[in-house]
Amino acid sequence: MEPEIEKIAQWLNKNLGISHRFLSERVIRRILHGRMQHLDMADAALYLKHFVANNGERNSFIDEIVIPETWFFREEEAFKVMVNEAQQRLRTPSQRLNVLCLPCATGEEAYTILLALHEAGIDRSRYNIDAYDISDKSVVVAKHGVYSANSFRRNRSEEVRDRYFDHNQGIYFIKPQFKGHIRFQVGNLFNVISAAGGMRYDFIFMRNLLIYFEADEKARALSGMARLLRDDGILFVGHAETGPYINEHFERVDWPRAFAFKKRPGVAVANVS
Ligand SMILES: C[S@@+](CC[C@H](N)C(=O)[O-])C[C@H]1O[C@@H](n2cnc3c(N)ncnc32)[C@H](O)[C@@H]1O
Repeated sequence: MEPEIEKIAQWLNKNLGISHRFLSERVIRRILHGRMQHLDMADAALYLKHFVANNGERNSFIDEIVIPETWFFREEEAFKVMVNEAQQRLRTPSQRLNVLCLPCATGEEAYTILLALHEAGIDRSRYNIDAYDISDKSVVVAKHGVYSANSFRRNRSEEVRDRYFDHNQGIYFIKPQFKGHIRFQVGNLFNVISAAGGMRYDFIFMRNLLIYFEADEKARALSGMARLLRDDGILFVGHAETGPYINEHFERVDWPRAFAFKKRPGVAVANVS
């Protein structure tokens, strides 16, 4: 492997947590050459210097790697569990809910959280939604709330599209009354965990990210989420992410196809920063 490709692979593995299985030499070489061409650079060593020194360049590289595959009301049972639990918790008049969506990709999952709470008649003043993704480009799309037909698949697609979006020539715009209610931010999961301070969430959606991690990163991510979750909070993962590694900190909520977990009582959570 050329030294530049090896250095970039090491940086990506360390900082993103993404497994070598998804970061093959071939993939990195393809992106490296694409970026060099884009920047009109002929020398890989020069590009490496630029990559190391320039946060914007690293973000552009990351944007080529990440897989922002997502859609509205994906694995819908999770949102039913969330609404059911939210209604119980909000019986206490002073209670407010904190929800975290990480990774949010282009925002479909975070807007689904908002729409599900809205459909349940829960007032906007009773909850806060934070959403992060490592990809700059995806977070820009999320903030604008602008989608193609590809974001509407399977569950309730047409109903959701017609009710909550304005439509122009195959492009769907989230209606203005649903814009600006989610705090979308660019963030690497591992940095978000270490920077969260005393913040605790009632619900965390960390779906379809663990599948890209090796065992160590899975353990770090889950330990971090256990730290960010309230003791009675619920963690939602993707359907392919319910492997035995999750059982160290969490136990499954008895609701089919929701892939929801509660913290084990008294679980000791290591500092993951
Ligand atoms: C398949 S999407 C999942 C989106 C959504 N949660 C869902 O299930 O539909 C995976 C996302 O993870 C993001 N990602 C990858 N590594 C990350 C990291 N270390 N921190 C935050 N986001 C990351 C990618 O940018 C991509 O948007």
